[in-house]
Amino acid sequence: MKHMKKTFLLLASALMAVSATAESKIIPIETENVGLVYSVGDNGRLYQRYFGKKLANAEEYAKLPQGIEAYLTHGMEDYFEPALHINHADGNQSTLLKYVDSSTTTNTDGSVSTVISLVDPAYNDEVKMHFTAYPDCDVITTYTEITNNEKKPIELEKYASSLLTFNAPAYYLTQYDGDWANEANLKEQKLEFGKKQLDTNLGSRHNMFLAQFFQLSIGAPAQENSGEVLAGNLGWTGNYRYTFEVDREGKLRVISGINPYNSEYTIAKGETFTTPEFYFTLSQEGKGGASRNFHDWARQYKVKDGMGDRMTLLNNWEATYFDFDEAKLIQLCKDAKTLGVDMFLLDDGWFANKYPRNSDTAGLGDWGENVEKLPNGFYPVIEEAKKQGVKFGLWIEPEMVNPKSELYETHKDWVITLPNRDEYYFRNQLVLDLSNPKVQDYVFSVLDDLKTKYPEIAFFKWDCNSPITNIYSPYEKNQKHLYVDYVKGLYNVLERVKAKYPELAIMMCAGGSGRGDYKGLEYFTEFWASDNTDPIERLFIQWGFSQIFPSKTICAHVTSWNRDASIKFKTDVAMMGKLGFDINLHELSENDLRYAQQAVREYNRLKPAILEGDQYRLVSPYDGNHTSTMYVTKDKSKAVVFAFDVYPRYNEKMYNVKMSGLDANKMYNVKEINRYDCNDQNVGQYSGNYLMTVGLPMFTGNKLHSRIYEVSAN
Ligand code: GLA
Repeated sequence: MKHMKKTFLLLASALMAVSATAESKIIPIETENVGLVYSVGDNGRLYQRYFGKKLANAEEYAKLPQGIEAYLTHGMEDYFEPALHINHADGNQSTLLKYVDSSTTTNTDGSVSTVISLVDPAYNDEVKMHFTAYPDCDVITTYTEITNNEKKPIELEKYASSLLTFNAPAYYLTQYDGDWANEANLKEQKLEFGKKQLDTNLGSRHNMFLAQFFQLSIGAPAQENSGEVLAGNLGWTGNYRYTFEVDREGKLRVISGINPYNSEYTIAKGETFTTPEFYFTLSQEGKGGASRNFHDWARQYKVKDGMGDRMTLLNNWEATYFDFDEAKLIQLCKDAKTLGVDMFLLDDGWFANKYPRNSDTAGLGDWGENVEKLPNGFYPVIEEAKKQGVKFGLWIEPEMVNPKSELYETHKDWVITLPNRDEYYFRNQLVLDLSNPKVQDYVFSVLDDLKTKYPEIAFFKWDCNSPITNIYSPYEKNQKHLYVDYVKGLYNVLERVKAKYPELAIMMCAGGSGRGDYKGLEYFTEFWASDNTDPIERLFIQWGFSQIFPSKTICAHVTSWNRDASIKFKTDVAMMGKLGFDINLHELSENDLRYAQQAVREYNRLKPAILEGDQYRLVSPYDGNHTSTMYVTKDKSKAVVFAFDVYPRYNEKMYNVKMSGLDANKMYNVKEINRYDCNDQNVGQYSGNYLMTVGLPMFTGNKLHSRIYEVSAN
C-alpha cells in the first residue's frame, strides 16, 4: 500500500511536471476578444498555434494542432515565402530558430508586452519577437529584433516585422490603391493559391499608388458589420511589403515588413536590426469593428496628441497659389476670423530669394522669407493673426531641393541622384539624402530656425512631393542601405522635432496622401488625404482612409473644386474629417458665407461626436448614388449622421438609413441641422431601437444634396 502510494505520488508529480512544461511552452497574447497563441514544438521550434477569437478557456489552446512555424526562415524545409533570410559570412544562407525563453510584462498604460527569444544553434544569431497587446481596443503591435552574434557581418536579405497564418476555407483581400489625386480606391479580391503582394518602392513619397493598409476577410467577403476581418498597417514611412501567400493546403501566410526590394541590410558583429512595428486588429464585427478598434487605439496610444483637439483652418493654397504679398496675407488672417476658424495656414511660395519660389520650379531648400512678398518677414502677419485671435501655420517641404536653389549650388553632395547620369526631376525637384547626419541636422534646422525666430507658429504642414528616383547616396558606404536609412534619418529628425516641440501640431503631407502610416502619425497630428478636394471624390477617398484612421487625423478642406457642388455639400463632406477651408472668402455670396460660418460653429459643437466618437459607415458610396456615415459619442448620448445624395437615378427607389451604435433603450430627439437656410428642422422623437431597426428616410432624389442630422438622447 505504502509502495503504491509512493508510485502514485511519483506518477502524479511527473504528470504535473509534463503539464507544467507543456503549459509554459504555450504563449498566449491576448486582448479582450483576440487570441494569438504561440507554442514550442518537440523539436524546440516556435509555432503559431492559434490566431482568432479569444477562447474562453485558455487551457484549451493546448488542444489545437501545432500550426505553421512562427517566424519562417529561409533555407530550411518550408517551401513558401520566409519572414527571415540571413546570408552568413561563410556563404550559408539558412537560419534555424529554436525557442529560448519568453517573458510578459504589463505596461503602465495597461497594454501587455510579450517577448519571445529564439536563437540559431549553429550561428548563435538571436531573434526576439516583440508583441504588445492593447486589451481594450483589440489591437496588437509586433516587431522583431535580429542580433548578429557571429564573428563577421551578416546580410539580412529579408527581415519581416510579422508573419501571421490562417487556416480558413477562403480569404478576401481589400486593398486601397490609386494615384495622385485619386487615392484609396477600394478593391476586393479572393486569394487563391500563390502570392499576392502589396508593396511600394517609391521611397519618400511611398504611398502614392497604394494606401499603406489592408483588410483581410477570413472565410467570406468582407462585410461592414459582420465577419472576421484582419486590418493591418506597417509603421514605416517608406517602402513596405505585405505578402499574402496561400499554400497548397489552403493555409494563408501574411508577411508584413519593410520591402526587401534593394534593401539588403548588413549588420556588424554584435549589432541588432530592429524592424518597424506592424499594427493589426482582428475584429469579429466586420470592417466597421476593425476600423473602430484602430480609431480608439490611434487616439489613445499612437497619434501625436491623439486625445487632443484639432484646429479648423483657412488655407491659401488654392485661393492664391504662389501669388500673394503681405497685404493679401493680412487680409487672409482677417478672413480666418470672419469665417470663425482657429488658424490661417500659409502654404507654398513664401520663401527663397536668389531663386524666388514663385512656381514649383525653384527655391526649395532656401528657407528664408522672400523679401518681395514678405519685406517684414512674418511679423506683420503674425501681429494681425494675434489681433484677430487666430493662430498662424506654415507650409514647409524640408526634405527636398530644387536644382534652382542656393542649397543645391552649395550642397550637391546632400542630394540623392546618380553621379554619372542625367538628373531626373519629379515636380522639378530632388530628394535630400537623409541617410547623412548633416542633412538630418539641416532638415531639423528648417523647422527649428522658423520656430525659434517665430515661436508663434502654431502649426506646420510638412510636405514631401517627390519619390526617391535615380537612387544613389554620396554618403552611404553600402548603397543597399539607402531606402532604409532614409527613413531612419527622417525619424531622427522627427524625434528631435517632437522632443523639442511636443505640443506642436503638424500635418503630414506628400502631394496628397503620399505618406500615411501610424509610425509617421507618432510625429504628426494629422495627414492630408488628397490634393483632390472635389467633394464627390472626397466621399470615396475619406471612406477609404476612415477604414483605419480616425476622423481627427484626416484633413478635409472645402475648396472650389467641382463648381456644380454647393458650399453646403462641400462643407458637409469636409465636416466628416478635420475641417478646413481653402477658398477665397470674397468670392462667396452672403448666404454661402453665412452658411460656412454656421458650419464652423456646428462643427466645433459636434466635435465630441465627430472627432472623439465611434464611427459607423452606414451606406457605402461604392454601393450606389448615396452614402451615409455617422459618429456617436462614447456615452451614446449624441450622434451626428451625414447623408449624401450624389447622382440619384430617375425614379430611384429610396430606402431608410438605419443608424448604428445608439442605445436601443434610450429615446432620442432627431433634428436636421446645419441647413443652408440656417434653420434647424425637427424630425421627431424615436427610440434607439427604432432608429437602428427601421431608420429614417434621409436620402432624396436631388443631385449633389446633403443633410446632417443631430441625434440627442433625451
Ligand atoms: C502639394 C500639397 C498641396 C500644396 C502644394 C504646394 O501638392 O499636397 O496641398 O501644399 O504641394 O506646392
